[in-house]
Amino acid sequence: MSSITRKNAPIGVFDSGFGGLTVAKALREMLPHEDIVFFGDSGRCPYGPREPEEVEKFSLQICNWLAGLGCKLIVIACNTATAAALATCQMAVDVPVMGVIQPGARAAVEATRSRKVGVIGTVGTITSGAYLKAIRNLDCGIQVVSLPTPNLVQLVEDELIQEYIEALDVRQARVMDELAPLLGGNIDTLVLGCTHYPLLYNEIKACFTEDVRLVNSSEETAHDVFETLDRRDEFSESREPGHLRFVTSGVDTELRNRIASRIMGFEITDVEFKSFDEE
Ligand code: DGL
Repeated sequence: MSSITRKNAPIGVFDSGFGGLTVAKALREMLPHEDIVFFGDSGRCPYGPREPEEVEKFSLQICNWLAGLGCKLIVIACNTATAAALATCQMAVDVPVMGVIQPGARAAVEATRSRKVGVIGTVGTITSGAYLKAIRNLDCGIQVVSLPTPNLVQLVEDELIQEYIEALDVRQARVMDELAPLLGGNIDTLVLGCTHYPLLYNEIKACFTEDVRLVNSSEETAHDVFETLDRRDEFSESREPGHLRFVTSGVDTELRNRIASRIMGFEITDVEFKSFDEE
């Protein structure tokens, strides 16, 4: 690929479902001229309760497909898939593959003063110990308190899929219940270690005192992508808004358009369908 062609190639982004659109949105805001291809594996979501080997297999299928489309860089916009498959994907394709765990871990290490950091994520992410390792690789003196919070994924999915919005106090109570083990634990920084969680940012923030800082790994990852493209001299040369392509394994056309529009904040009517089930 010539350097001009590579500069103008899209960034590939994928997630187990639509939560990863929080990363696509952060990328769009930071890099408005870049083309983005997003794949959400909604037909096989959630990844959180699956065995890591299965998540690795799914991630590899998607990563190879995105590389085949000519993406210049691929973002695994899913913590569970990053924990299970980042290394395998990096070895499988010849473009940079970035996950969401390293950027979030680094931001938490930089932010904490009490040196006590909380991490919430799916069962798969927390069981993998990937955040603990990433944080300890940067600073062995930081205490990490990890908590699986799968019900928060469920809450987001229910609301996105059913468009059933809980009364605000019920919603807040569900979030508070799930986070209860972390409250009063003296953490001063909390990593939102699941790309669904930025969609509950206000509710999570309201559970803690004002001084507790939330790390949104979606935004941190977008920063890292910016820096990587800058160092590689691979920014798009276009001055027009980049083209956004959305693809999902979720079957309901109306639903996938509605969910994508809601997270991205503008109307999307052409989410495409693709399934990897037969591969
Ligand atoms: N978005 C996924 C993550 O960041 C969580 C959803 C799932 O369980 O598939 O881990």
